[in-house]
Amino acid sequence: MRIDIITVLPELLQGPFDCSIIKRARDKGLLEIEIHNLREYGLGKHRRVDDYAFGGSAGMVMMIEPIDHIISDLKKQREYDEVIYTSPDGETFNQKIANSLSLLKNIMILCGHYKGIDYRIREHLITKEISIGDYVLTGGELAAAVITDTVVRIIPGVISDEQSALSDSFQDNLLAPPVYTRPADYNGWKVPEVLLSGHERNIREWEFLQAVERTQRIRPDLLE
Ligand code: ADE
Repeated sequence: MRIDIITVLPELLQGPFDCSIIKRARDKGLLEIEIHNLREYGLGKHRRVDDYAFGGSAGMVMMIEPIDHIISDLKKQREYDEVIYTSPDGETFNQKIANSLSLLKNIMILCGHYKGIDYRIREHLITKEISIGDYVLTGGELAAAVITDTVVRIIPGVISDEQSALSDSFQDNLLAPPVYTRPADYNGWKVPEVLLSGHERNIREWEFLQAVERTQRIRPDLLE
Protein backbone atom coordinates (compact mmCIF):
# COMPACT_ATOMS: atom_id res chain seq x y z
CA MET A 1 0.00 0.00 0.00
CA ARG A 2 1.11 3.55 -0.67
CA ILE A 3 -0.04 6.60 1.29
CA ASP A 4 0.77 10.15 0.11
CA ILE A 5 0.18 12.83 2.72
CA ILE A 6 -0.03 16.49 1.71
CA THR A 7 0.65 19.01 4.48
CA VAL A 8 1.98 22.49 5.25
CA LEU A 9 3.65 21.07 8.36
CA PRO A 10 5.70 18.05 7.20
CA GLU A 11 7.83 18.20 10.37
CA LEU A 12 4.75 17.23 12.42
CA LEU A 13 4.57 13.93 10.56
CA GLN A 14 8.25 12.98 10.57
CA GLY A 15 8.22 11.14 13.90
CA PRO A 16 5.18 8.85 13.91
CA PHE A 17 6.08 6.87 10.80
CA ASP A 18 9.78 6.40 11.55
CA CYS A 19 9.60 4.04 14.49
CA SER A 20 8.25 0.73 15.71
CA ILE A 21 5.64 -1.19 13.70
CA ILE A 22 5.20 1.35 10.89
CA LYS A 23 8.94 1.66 10.35
CA ARG A 24 9.25 -2.14 10.16
CA ALA A 25 6.38 -2.32 7.66
CA ARG A 26 8.11 0.31 5.51
CA ASP A 27 11.46 -1.52 5.79
CA LYS A 28 9.75 -4.80 4.77
CA GLY A 29 8.30 -3.08 1.69
CA LEU A 30 4.68 -3.62 2.79
CA LEU A 31 4.09 0.09 2.87
CA GLU A 32 5.27 3.33 1.32
CA ILE A 33 4.51 6.62 3.02
CA GLU A 34 5.47 9.90 1.32
CA ILE A 35 5.03 13.25 3.01
CA HIS A 36 4.66 16.20 0.60
CA ASN A 37 5.18 19.80 1.61
CA LEU A 38 2.33 21.81 0.08
CA ARG A 39 4.41 24.97 0.41
CA GLU A 40 6.60 23.75 -2.45
CA TYR A 41 3.55 24.36 -4.62
CA GLY A 42 2.82 27.73 -2.99
CA LEU A 43 2.35 30.84 -5.13
CA GLY A 44 4.84 33.64 -5.65
CA LYS A 45 8.05 34.51 -3.90
CA HIS A 46 6.56 33.72 -0.49
CA ARG A 47 5.15 30.36 -1.57
CA ARG A 48 1.72 31.42 -0.45
CA VAL A 49 -0.84 28.66 0.18
CA ASP A 50 -3.67 30.58 1.85
CA ASP A 51 -5.68 33.76 1.37
CA TYR A 52 -8.51 35.77 2.92
CA ALA A 53 -12.02 34.31 2.78
CA PHE A 54 -14.49 35.82 0.32
CA GLY A 55 -17.40 37.36 2.21
CA GLY A 56 -15.18 38.68 4.95
CA SER A 57 -15.39 35.85 7.50
CA ALA A 58 -12.43 35.57 9.86
CA GLY A 59 -9.47 33.24 9.23
CA MET A 60 -7.39 32.23 6.25
CA VAL A 61 -8.51 29.69 3.66
CA MET A 62 -6.22 27.33 1.76
CA MET A 63 -6.18 28.23 -1.95
CA ILE A 64 -7.19 25.96 -4.80
CA GLU A 65 -4.15 26.33 -7.04
CA PRO A 66 -1.35 24.81 -4.93
CA ILE A 67 -3.59 21.92 -3.88
CA ASP A 68 -4.87 21.27 -7.39
CA HIS A 69 -1.31 21.29 -8.75
CA ILE A 70 0.13 18.87 -6.21
CA ILE A 71 -2.85 16.49 -6.52
CA SER A 72 -2.56 16.59 -10.34
CA ASP A 73 1.17 15.88 -10.16
CA LEU A 74 0.59 12.87 -7.91
CA LYS A 75 -2.25 11.59 -10.08
CA LYS A 76 0.10 11.65 -13.11
CA GLN A 77 2.29 9.12 -11.29
CA ARG A 78 -0.38 6.60 -10.24
CA GLU A 79 -4.08 6.07 -9.82
CA TYR A 80 -5.52 6.85 -6.40
CA ASP A 81 -8.36 4.84 -4.87
CA GLU A 82 -9.26 7.65 -2.47
CA VAL A 83 -8.30 11.29 -1.98
CA ILE A 84 -9.06 11.91 1.69
CA TYR A 85 -9.43 15.28 3.40
CA THR A 86 -9.06 15.43 7.19
CA SER A 87 -11.59 17.78 8.72
CA PRO A 88 -13.76 17.96 11.84
CA ASP A 89 -16.85 17.98 9.61
CA GLY A 90 -16.08 14.69 7.86
CA GLU A 91 -17.46 11.20 8.48
CA THR A 92 -16.34 9.96 11.91
CA PHE A 93 -13.43 7.54 11.59
CA ASN A 94 -13.87 4.03 13.00
CA GLN A 95 -12.49 0.49 12.61
CA LYS A 96 -14.89 -0.30 9.77
CA ILE A 97 -13.58 2.61 7.67
CA ALA A 98 -10.01 1.61 8.57
CA ASN A 99 -10.65 -1.98 7.45
CA SER A 100 -11.98 -0.87 4.07
CA LEU A 101 -9.11 1.61 3.53
CA SER A 102 -6.58 -1.12 4.35
CA LEU A 103 -7.70 -3.02 1.22
CA LEU A 104 -6.77 -0.15 -1.11
CA LYS A 105 -3.55 0.27 -3.08
CA ASN A 106 -2.95 4.03 -3.20
CA ILE A 107 -4.46 6.68 -1.01
CA MET A 108 -3.80 10.39 -0.71
CA ILE A 109 -4.52 12.34 2.47
CA LEU A 110 -4.79 16.12 2.37
CA CYS A 111 -4.36 17.64 5.83
CA GLY A 112 -6.74 20.50 6.48
CA HIS A 113 -5.54 23.72 8.08
CA TYR A 114 -6.50 27.25 9.08
CA LYS A 115 -10.18 27.97 8.57
CA GLY A 116 -10.42 25.26 5.97
CA ILE A 117 -9.81 24.81 2.28
CA ASP A 118 -11.57 26.43 -0.66
CA TYR A 119 -14.79 24.44 -0.85
CA ARG A 120 -14.34 23.76 -4.59
CA ILE A 121 -11.45 21.42 -3.72
CA ARG A 122 -13.81 19.39 -1.57
CA GLU A 123 -16.43 19.36 -4.31
CA HIS A 124 -14.15 18.39 -7.19
CA LEU A 125 -10.98 16.69 -5.91
CA ILE A 126 -11.74 15.05 -2.58
CA THR A 127 -13.42 11.63 -2.56
CA LYS A 128 -13.74 11.13 1.19
CA GLU A 129 -13.76 13.46 4.22
CA ILE A 130 -12.77 12.00 7.57
CA SER A 131 -12.96 13.40 11.10
CA ILE A 132 -11.23 11.51 13.92
CA GLY A 133 -13.73 12.74 16.51
CA ASP A 134 -15.98 15.54 17.66
CA TYR A 135 -13.29 17.99 18.69
CA VAL A 136 -11.16 20.49 16.77
CA LEU A 137 -7.40 19.99 16.30
CA THR A 138 -5.09 22.81 15.19
CA GLY A 139 -4.68 20.99 11.88
CA GLY A 140 -5.33 17.73 10.09
CA GLU A 141 -1.82 16.30 10.52
CA LEU A 142 -2.49 14.39 13.73
CA ALA A 143 -5.72 13.09 12.19
CA ALA A 144 -3.75 11.89 9.14
CA ALA A 145 -1.30 10.16 11.51
CA VAL A 146 -4.15 8.45 13.38
CA ILE A 147 -5.80 7.27 10.15
CA THR A 148 -2.50 6.03 8.70
CA ASP A 149 -1.49 4.20 11.87
CA THR A 150 -4.88 2.48 12.21
CA VAL A 151 -5.00 1.43 8.56
CA VAL A 152 -1.41 0.25 8.35
CA ARG A 153 -1.49 -2.09 11.32
CA ILE A 154 -4.22 -4.23 9.75
CA ILE A 155 -2.39 -4.76 6.46
CA PRO A 156 -1.55 -8.50 6.43
CA GLY A 157 2.04 -9.08 7.54
CA VAL A 158 2.44 -5.75 9.34
CA ILE A 159 1.72 -7.22 12.75
CA SER A 160 3.52 -10.54 13.10
CA ASP A 161 0.77 -12.18 15.15
CA GLU A 162 -2.21 -11.54 12.83
CA GLN A 163 -4.50 -12.88 15.49
CA SER A 164 -3.70 -9.90 17.67
CA ALA A 165 -5.06 -7.40 15.11
CA LEU A 166 -8.18 -9.52 14.67
CA SER A 167 -8.91 -9.73 18.38
CA ASP A 168 -8.61 -5.95 18.90
CA SER A 169 -11.32 -3.98 20.57
CA PHE A 170 -13.88 -2.92 17.91
CA GLN A 171 -13.15 -5.67 15.37
CA ASP A 172 -16.20 -7.51 16.74
CA ASN A 173 -17.92 -4.50 18.35
CA LEU A 174 -16.63 -5.61 21.75
CA LEU A 175 -14.02 -3.98 23.94
CA ALA A 176 -11.03 -6.25 24.63
CA PRO A 177 -10.96 -8.39 27.80
CA PRO A 178 -8.35 -7.59 30.48
CA VAL A 179 -4.86 -9.08 30.07
CA TYR A 180 -2.24 -9.90 32.71
CA THR A 181 1.36 -11.08 32.93
CA ARG A 182 3.76 -12.24 35.64
CA PRO A 183 3.84 -12.11 38.63
CA ALA A 184 0.51 -13.86 39.27
CA ASP A 185 0.35 -12.21 42.70
CA TYR A 186 1.76 -8.70 43.14
CA ASN A 187 1.53 -7.65 46.78
CA GLY A 188 -1.87 -9.33 47.00
CA TRP A 189 -3.20 -8.04 43.64
CA LYS A 190 -4.07 -11.35 42.05
CA VAL A 191 -4.54 -12.45 38.45
CA PRO A 192 -7.98 -14.13 37.96
CA GLU A 193 -7.69 -17.85 38.84
CA VAL A 194 -9.15 -19.05 35.55
CA LEU A 195 -6.24 -17.62 33.52
CA LEU A 196 -3.81 -19.80 35.51
CA SER A 197 -5.96 -22.93 35.20
CA GLY A 198 -4.69 -24.03 31.77
CA HIS A 199 -8.31 -24.87 30.86
CA GLU A 200 -8.56 -23.44 27.33
CA ARG A 201 -12.36 -23.47 26.97
CA ASN A 202 -12.99 -21.87 30.36
CA ILE A 203 -10.41 -19.20 29.61
CA ARG A 204 -11.98 -18.27 26.22
CA GLU A 205 -15.43 -18.19 27.82
CA TRP A 206 -14.17 -15.97 30.66
CA GLU A 207 -12.56 -13.61 28.12
CA PHE A 208 -15.78 -13.36 26.14
CA LEU A 209 -17.91 -12.67 29.21
CA GLN A 210 -15.42 -10.02 30.38
CA ALA A 211 -15.52 -8.39 26.93
CA VAL A 212 -19.33 -8.27 26.99
CA GLU A 213 -19.43 -6.95 30.57
CA ARG A 214 -16.87 -4.19 29.85
CA THR A 215 -18.68 -3.20 26.65
CA GLN A 216 -22.06 -3.02 28.44
CA ARG A 217 -20.53 -0.86 31.17
CA ILE A 218 -18.25 1.44 29.15
CA ARG A 219 -19.62 1.52 25.58
CA PRO A 220 -23.21 0.20 25.55
CA ASP A 221 -23.73 1.96 22.17
CA LEU A 222 -21.51 -0.70 20.54
CA LEU A 223 -24.02 -3.43 21.44
CA GLU A 224 -27.05 -1.70 19.89
N1 ADE B 1 -8.83 18.84 11.75
C1 ADE B 1 -9.18 19.53 12.85
N2 ADE B 1 -9.90 18.78 13.69
C2 ADE B 1 -10.02 17.55 13.11
C3 ADE B 1 -10.66 16.35 13.48
N3 ADE B 1 -11.34 16.22 14.62
N4 ADE B 1 -10.58 15.30 12.63
C4 ADE B 1 -9.91 15.42 11.48
N5 ADE B 1 -9.29 16.52 11.07
C5 ADE B 1 -9.34 17.59 11.87
